[in-house]
Amino acid sequence: MNRPFVITIDGPAGVGKSTLARRLAAELGIAYLDTGAMYRALGLALGAEAADLPEEELRRRCAAFQFTLHRDKNSAWVLYCDGKPVGEEIRSERAGRLASLVARLPALRSELQAAQQRLGSGVSLVAEGRDMGTRVFPNARRKFFLDARPEVRAERRFKELQAKGEEADFDTVLANILSRDKQDRERAVDPLRPAHDAVRVDTSDLELDGVLRVLINSVHAAFGREGLRRASPAFSHLAGDGSLHMVDVGDKLETRRVARARAVVEMSASTLDLLKREALPKGDVLAVAKVAGIMAAKRTWELIPLSHPLMINYADIRFEIRDEPPSVLLESEVHVSGKTGVEMEAIMAVQVAAATIYDMAKAVQKDMIIRDVRLVYKSGGKSGDFQA
Ligand code: DC
Repeated sequence: MNRPFVITIDGPAGVGKSTLARRLAAELGIAYLDTGAMYRALGLALGAEAADLPEEELRRRCAAFQFTLHRDKNSAWVLYCDGKPVGEEIRSERAGRLASLVARLPALRSELQAAQQRLGSGVSLVAEGRDMGTRVFPNARRKFFLDARPEVRAERRFKELQAKGEEADFDTVLANILSRDKQDRERAVDPLRPAHDAVRVDTSDLELDGVLRVLINSVHAAFGREGLRRASPAFSHLAGDGSLHMVDVGDKLETRRVARARAVVEMSASTLDLLKREALPKGDVLAVAKVAGIMAAKRTWELIPLSHPLMINYADIRFEIRDEPPSVLLESEVHVSGKTGVEMEAIMAVQVAAATIYDMAKAVQKDMIIRDVRLVYKSGGKSGDFQA
């Protein structure tokens, strides 16, 4: 299995970095980090006045922003700031100018660079920006520096703005690109420049798909014979490098959640008759099975490897005795006010209760059948309600 690795993509504004980095990350099944979005978010939040703040105050304010990466329901990687997804508001020309402005401030840069390194620790990542290869991830497994003629970049941006229905004037877009270039390339701290070991690609005369192919081939070449194993982006319990990981539910909302599960224990009519009359040799089967089920709900997190410990509010098992066919129908119900659901608790509860019935009656019948274990209801949480 590959150890976590980082791939960096640096380059000037409008070169196609974001699209390429996102597509390369999806192709490799690893996370994607848009560091420009972090500068844009801080640019908008702090404004141009950030430049007038005393250094310590600026550092303190920057450190207060918490950036995290999460997957949305389509498995795309989304940057969060303080528990909320960073949205389209950062994509305006104004946000770009503010980002470039605040990106000159050494205290702000060093705080963001530390945050970027934290985001890149322990997971595989395509990180995109201006100083990814030179400063933030100097040991990246593969570094790219993308460039294109300013007129070509301005043309791409111009078309993007038109497609979004925004009013745009080519000369203004070109002037913005040239001034952003100047600001990014000539600033004193971490100016935009290729790392000495970066693969340089001029995208001026290439289609996006062609550039992507160049990047993918180059990444595969970097991994050589050891190969690059693809981790499926659809699996939330696999990290980018294919290792197992527990989903971080820190940013999920606490909601009231309920789950119910059922199982059936089939037995002979004579066993059922003994159970009804509490005449089985081990005693009151259903009372013991109820306690066993409740205990199982409380201990589910010890048994299901990637489930979260939950402080459940309530657990119960109900029984229905059926004569035709002779059986006990069990239904568990578990409640929690929490960040993850209690489906697993309900399923574990009903299974352990069913196994306890078996244990209490096996002296008189060994071929009882435990069947039809299933979730019948759940409510709460992002995925909504479910009724079997
Ligand atoms: O990539 P972008 O256009 O979203 O970036 C916005 C600005 O943020 C860019 O003009 C310079 C700054 N930036 C930076 O200085 N370092 C980075 N790693 C990323 C962006």
